Amino acid sequence: MLRHPPFFVHAGNVNSVSMLPVPDTAIIVVAAGSGTRLDAGAPKAFVGIDSHSILRHALDGVFAAAPAQVIVVAPAGFEGDAETELRAAAGDRIDLARVVTGGDTRQRSVAAGLKALWGDITRVLVHDAARALTPPEVIDAVAAAIAGEIGILPTLPVVDTLKRVDGDAVVGPIDRSELAAAQTPQGFPRALLEAAYEAALSSGVEYTDDAALYAAAGHDVRQIPGSARGFKITTAADLERARHLLAADTGASAEAPAAAPVPWSGPRVGLGTDVHAFGGDGDLWLAGLEWPGEPALSGHSDGDAVAHAIVDALLGAAGLGDIGEHFGTAHPEYAGAHAQVFLARTRELLEEAGFAIGNVSAQFQGNRPRFSARRAEAERVLSAALGGAPVSITATTTDGLGFPGRGEGIAVTAIAMVHPR
Ligand code: CTP
Ligand code: MG
Repeated sequence: MLRHPPFFVHAGNVNSVSMLPVPDTAIIVVAAGSGTRLDAGAPKAFVGIDSHSILRHALDGVFAAAPAQVIVVAPAGFEGDAETELRAAAGDRIDLARVVTGGDTRQRSVAAGLKALWGDITRVLVHDAARALTPPEVIDAVAAAIAGEIGILPTLPVVDTLKRVDGDAVVGPIDRSELAAAQTPQGFPRALLEAAYEAALSSGVEYTDDAALYAAAGHDVRQIPGSARGFKITTAADLERARHLLAADTGASAEAPAAAPVPWSGPRVGLGTDVHAFGGDGDLWLAGLEWPGEPALSGHSDGDAVAHAIVDALLGAAGLGDIGEHFGTAHPEYAGAHAQVFLARTRELLEEAGFAIGNVSAQFQGNRPRFSARRAEAERVLSAALGGAPVSITATTTDGLGFPGRGEGIAVTAIAMVHPR
């Protein structure tokens, strides 16, 4: 069992953080799914709704609720990206928060989160990152309603008329007053939830949500009102709905006016280059993809020279400085981060400065990896991180000449076009 940070123990310690009480509630934010149905080219949690990802929005809601230990369960290989999002959302509550690696089912991901609970935690909320717009009031209401052995489930009434069907045939009606749609966060007393998870893992049964798993262990679950904003982003239509809700919140339309005046109103281009030597740890990350078995590039973050050259091209086009200024070693939160995080943050910087991205083209010089088979995949991932702007990547060898030709490293050139929003 893990301890909370020591400054919470020594309440006499005089600094502002030490005045925070030790939380007795934890929120496990499960974000380790792959997002198969959304199919956006990246794990769902890192797909942008606006300039912020699904995970970032979910965490903004979590940190707007009452202080709690926050455990983000990330997809394997994306822990650094989750850490970056967590730091951005947590602010001075970062000491209450950490990232753990998820499993191949939601249930296993929750179980991984449970292992990271501090000893003082008595109540646990389990929340889907995919319910990114859940209001903090719902989170607080769930936490407040946990009492005794009862689990708490936020629900919405079912509004559609429902039918029982068999193939083409409509067999009969269903009384919808008996039904409710389940949301998250779902809240439970810690010890009973842990015991229920132990039982579920040893039985091998996969439950669709935590309330079902908890009920199967013989405990009662009560409903409280959920929120229409607590819907789960599952498909592209759900993502669109979330975008519209956020645009309505800010009074912005899809064609938002420029955030800041841009002197030249036409398109602008920028150039970025990057070079990394082989010799990093683990597998290669290049063009937003992991390349198992290929030698890794060295460098701050994951060494993804394609992503870094694109970031410089975009920043250069917008006149916003360069990658070192925004993401260099002075920003330790980007130490393990992958392309999605760099590119999403770059897009955010550009949007704040009043620019939209036209397109990006990059070429890398290197003997390996053999790129063409995964070109479409890489372009999709990079484009998704840039909010859908077209990205094209080409690759070439250098006829054995120079350091790329000798297999010492990779050189990348990128060019980007941006225009006022
Ligand atoms: N989840 C998880 N670990 C998994 C599977 C899902 O942490 N192995 C999380 C997801 O990240 C999401 C929540 O559980 O926040 C609800 O799952 P779902 O909406 O099904 O997300 P995905 O599994 O990512 O999507 P899909 O089923 O379309 O692949
Ligand atoms: Mg799923």
